[in-house]
Amino acid sequence: MKIHAPALSVIREFLDDALYALVDLRLSFEVERAPTGFPRFQPLQQIVGRLDASHQVLFRLFRVGEAVDDAAVRAAIPGRVLEALQEVELLEREASGQWRTPSLLIVPAEGMNLIVSVPASYPTLTRPCLTWFDLSSFVVARALPGSLQGQRVLDICSGSGLQSLLCAARGASHVVGLELHEDAVLISRANAHLNGLDARVEFRASNALSAVKDGETFDFVVCNTPYDPMLGALEVPASVEGVGNSVLWTVLERLPAHLSPRARGILGTWRAVGHQGSTAALRRASERLEKEGFSTSAYVDRAPDTVESVLKTLQGHVDQREGGPTPRGAELVQGVRALFQGSQPPMDGFYNQLIFFRKERPDAPVGSRAIFGLSAPTPANTASKA
Ligand SMILES: C[S@@+](CC[C@H](N)C(=O)[O-])C[C@H]1O[C@@H](n2cnc3c(N)ncnc32)[C@H](O)[C@@H]1O
Repeated sequence: MKIHAPALSVIREFLDDALYALVDLRLSFEVERAPTGFPRFQPLQQIVGRLDASHQVLFRLFRVGEAVDDAAVRAAIPGRVLEALQEVELLEREASGQWRTPSLLIVPAEGMNLIVSVPASYPTLTRPCLTWFDLSSFVVARALPGSLQGQRVLDICSGSGLQSLLCAARGASHVVGLELHEDAVLISRANAHLNGLDARVEFRASNALSAVKDGETFDFVVCNTPYDPMLGALEVPASVEGVGNSVLWTVLERLPAHLSPRARGILGTWRAVGHQGSTAALRRASERLEKEGFSTSAYVDRAPDTVESVLKTLQGHVDQREGGPTPRGAELVQGVRALFQGSQPPMDGFYNQLIFFRKERPDAPVGSRAIFGLSAPTPANTASKA
């Protein structure tokens, strides 16, 4: 994609006039969401076929990710909008003469229209999925404060930019979004223009906090860490706690130096190995923050993952880092399987967690860690009260 502010504002007006977000909401009543947070592909494709001709074209292109005939596109999209879509390279002409996005969708979320990658689960994916968006994006967005008036915000692992843009829309004076993948940085900049929030939001390519400048401080921090279980180094860790999200630990090392005296924030971490309803990852992150004078609390939710699904994802990461399947990679995953099986005390599954921190208030009990959320069903709490 290319950034061209006037073209992106033409596209914004067109989507607003077409009531794109409203039509999307109506479709969502009919189509179940997959665990990824996206509508299930086939039911979505079918329901889009029931829309009027113009919306069929829009939703086939930007919600399903399909290629659409030239004549249908020209009948549905006014010429100047089609030019704008070409200008920013959001629509491309294929050799067949059909139009298609470069494996990007436009997803309405929390009052924004966001350009994101076609998810890996959709058969319309044609390029690597680099602008990540999933259920965790909605979860973290919903946890943001209602007002950030006049505050400086840091969004680490910003992806499509959803949280950065919401913080700007809620009054932040300046927002810095940090993202590893250059492609996602570009898309997040396009999203800032598409939602008319570019004046107060800045996206930087950054590995964890590497692009934060010396002396920069922030009042509010949000970090939706990658969803995947990973290993920091390519070796079997000493304990199950080593299978997790290394980005979080890298961030926590440098973050306190960039927090203002009134700072608070949210860290999302996914699929952490759990024992008796809690995780070592939560304890370790809380201890690190408490040492710096922050109180912490957490929203803890049981993840639907199993040992097998986590090992499968881990295998994918290891293969990617090794450049393909290798005997060493297979051995590594076997080693992690043995760790899971031999864990003492036995692990009781995986947990998704939002960790909230704020500068300790003088009246708050030091080190209090309220933990709330929906517990797993047990015979006691699901028994009929009748
Ligand atoms: C779960 S996604 C969150 C994206 C976005 N904040 C959202 O909620 O939709 C995690 C993001 O972290 C990025 N990422 C992965 N490793 C990173 C790193 N070391 N530093 C910065 N970003 C990273 C990924 O590319 C991905 O966009």
